[in-house]
Amino acid sequence: MSNKMWGGRFATGPDAIMEEINASIDYDKRFHTQDIAGSKAHAEMLAKVGILTQEDKDAIISGLDQVHDEIAAGTFTFSRALEDIHMNVEARLKEIIGEPAGRLHTARSRNDQVATDFKLYVRDCIDTFVTQIQTLQLAMVERAEEHADSVMPGFTHLQSAQPVTFGHHMMAYVEMLGRDVGRFQDARKRLNESPLGSAALAGTSFPIDREMTAEALGFDRPTANSLDAVSDRDFVLETLSAASLCAMHLSRLSEELVIWSTAQFRFVRLSDKFSTGSSIMPQKRNPDAAELIRAKIGRITGALVSLMTVMKGLPLAYSKDMQEDKEVSFDAFDSLSLSLAAMTGMIKDLQVNKDAMSDAAGAGFATATDLADWLVREANVPFRDAHHITGSAVARAEEKGCDLAGLTIEDFKEIDQRIDARVFKVLTVEDSVKSRTSFGGTSPANVKTAAAIWRDRLTSA
Ligand code: ARG
Repeated sequence: MSNKMWGGRFATGPDAIMEEINASIDYDKRFHTQDIAGSKAHAEMLAKVGILTQEDKDAIISGLDQVHDEIAAGTFTFSRALEDIHMNVEARLKEIIGEPAGRLHTARSRNDQVATDFKLYVRDCIDTFVTQIQTLQLAMVERAEEHADSVMPGFTHLQSAQPVTFGHHMMAYVEMLGRDVGRFQDARKRLNESPLGSAALAGTSFPIDREMTAEALGFDRPTANSLDAVSDRDFVLETLSAASLCAMHLSRLSEELVIWSTAQFRFVRLSDKFSTGSSIMPQKRNPDAAELIRAKIGRITGALVSLMTVMKGLPLAYSKDMQEDKEVSFDAFDSLSLSLAAMTGMIKDLQVNKDAMSDAAGAGFATATDLADWLVREANVPFRDAHHITGSAVARAEEKGCDLAGLTIEDFKEIDQRIDARVFKVLTVEDSVKSRTSFGGTSPANVKTAAAIWRDRLTSA
C-alpha cells in the first residue's frame, strides 16, 4: 500500500529496509508534547486568519488533546510506516475527527514543524539543565561553607604545590558551573525564535500570522528567513557544545573524586549510596558513579561531533540527513541530566576526611613558597634569590627526613643568616592558607565571602 500522506504519485509502498532506515518514530515520539502544542498553536492561528472555520478548529484542538491523552496513557499505537511523530499524530487525528484533520497541514510543512518541535524540546532541556546545575552549585556552596578552612593540598601536575582549602576547591567548581549556566542561557536566547510558518523552505502564500504562533509557543519572535529557519540546527549544536563543556567539568571533578577516595589518598569517602562493592574483593568500595560521569563526556561530545559532521556541507534547505540530529542529541541530553543528578547526590553525601587532607597538605614541602615569600617580605631578598635559598632549605629537610616546619632555627641560619625565628609562623599549612587573602585566593575568609555571594545568587531568583 502506498503512503497515506503522499501516496498520490506512488504505485507501491516502501521496501521493508527503506521503512527501517527512514522511520524516526522510535525516538522522535519523545517530542509528542511539543508536536501537539505546535499543531494547536498553528490551528488557532489558521482559524484567526480565516483559513480554518471555527468548527474545524475546535474539532482539531479537541482531537489533538485526545491524541495527547492517548500517548500519555500509553494506549497510542505508533506506526513506523508513518515515519515520524508528525505523521503519526496527524493520522490518528484523522481517525478521530475525520476530514478537518486534513486541513491542519495548510501553510506548514514537516520541515518547519520538526524545527519548531526540536527547538521547544531543546529549550525544555536547557531549562532543566539550568535548574539541575544550580542545585549542584548550591550543594557545593554548602560543602564549601562547611569546609572553608579545611586545608588540603593544592596540586599542579598532580604534585603537591601549595595548600588550599577544600572549600576553595568546591568553589572553583561553582565558578565553572556558573559559566555553564551562562552558556545554556545564552544558547536559549538565540534559540528562541519560531520557525513555524516557514513551511517547506520558501514560506507560504497563505496570509498566516507568524507572530501569533511564535507568541503562543513562548518564542520571542518568528525567524526572519524561511530558508534559514528550516535548515538551522545551530541551536542543537550550541546546546550540545554547552553540554560538552559542562560534562567536561563534571568529568574533571569525577576524576578527582576517584583519586581522593583511594586508600592512598583517603581525602573523601563516597557514601554507600554512590559506591559499589566487588564480587571477589571484599574490601572494595568502587566509585562507579564518579567513573561513569567521568566517561559520559564521551557520548556527549560524541553527539556534538556527530551532528556537526552531519550538518557540514549540507546544502540549504532541509535534507533528510537532518533527521540524524535527534537520536544522538537525546542521548547526550539524557546523559548530562543523569550526570548532574548523580554528581549532586555524591557531593551532598560526601564524607570529607579533614585529617587526611591536612596531613597530605603538609607533605611535599607545600609551604616552600611561603618561606620564599617571607624572605622577600621580611628580609627584602629578591624573589629569585629567595627561591634559591628556599630550595636549599627543602634539600636540608629532605636530608633530615622532616618537613620545613621541622627544621631548627640553626638549620635555617646555616642556610641564610637573614632568616629568624618569626619564619615558623608561616610554615604551617593553616598559616599558609590564611595568608592567601588576595582577591580570589584560598584564604578561609575569602572562601566564606565567595560562598555567601553564591548562596545569595542561587537562592534569590
Ligand atoms: N522526521 C523528519 C525529521 O526528523 C521530519 C521532517 C521530514 N521532512 C521531509 N521533508 N521529509 O527530520
